[in-house]
Amino acid sequence: MRHLLDTTDLTVQEISGIINLANDIIDNKEKYAHICDGKKLATLFFEPSTRTRLSFEAAMMELGGKALGFSEANSSSASKRETVEDTIRVVSCYADIIAMRHPVEGAPRVASSKSRVPVINAGDGGHSHPTQTMTDLLTVFREKGRFDNLTVGLCGDLKFGRTVHSLIKAMCRYNNIRFVLISPKELAAPDYIKTDYLDENLMEYTETQSMEQVMPGLDILYMTRIQRERFFSEDEYLKYKDAFILNSEKLINAKPDLTIMHPLPRVNEITVDVDNDPRAKYFEQVLNGKYMRMALIITLLRWEGIL
Ligand code: CP
Repeated sequence: MRHLLDTTDLTVQEISGIINLANDIIDNKEKYAHICDGKKLATLFFEPSTRTRLSFEAAMMELGGKALGFSEANSSSASKRETVEDTIRVVSCYADIIAMRHPVEGAPRVASSKSRVPVINAGDGGHSHPTQTMTDLLTVFREKGRFDNLTVGLCGDLKFGRTVHSLIKAMCRYNNIRFVLISPKELAAPDYIKTDYLDENLMEYTETQSMEQVMPGLDILYMTRIQRERFFSEDEYLKYKDAFILNSEKLINAKPDLTIMHPLPRVNEITVDVDNDPRAKYFEQVLNGKYMRMALIITLLRWEGIL
């Protein structure tokens, strides 16, 4: 059975196919309105979420299916110390596909080994967030029309930010991508991301602490929030919370066709004046997330012969 636990579970060809499907859904919504009639999606969220959970549920509803699930561990039997393995054994009796978010890295992989139905990782700790990455790739493709020949700035908490880790892994597979990693030294991308993905794929990358210096060369600027929930202490978080704040003034020297992205939620790392800049695409990214999750539900159900 095929699950979606990491971006690397998908080949480049499969990613292209899913992006084409998402674009077709955007252009022909009626064609897909009943494709999942009678099917159920379970959303098991052991960690908070607005976009991922609700977009999954909206996606299944727009495909004609239904959604069930829980939005916090405390409202499930996890609060009675039921294991993830048992929870998945049970829920996979009720649903045709499961989207799961968990604070423990690797928990969706463990869950998938006990599931009767496809499991989608909706974010596991600081590790991976493949459906956000597919959303990000759809946004890049719709804005740039390509995945090659791009200078991609990733800014903020590159240590704990799982969306950044997933996006680097995915974009390493395209040609002539240059990464600019913008973060405080203490929140730099983990060593395994550099050795196993950037170095391994001979990717060009630089690390810097100055957003202003690198701004003119960027095609994409991917902002991220400092991940407060992953710090050991509030004092540590407070040291970095204002490290990078994008405002209109900092965009003066940016390319006219820069694409500004953010997986959201934002705290203060993009000021609201940037929202009106035509280069700000983070709310389009949110909408793309729903269409991408529609495409992923269809794809995984088709792979299992359920559709
Ligand atoms: N981007 C993202 O994962 O947002 P949520 O935490 O609200 O799901």
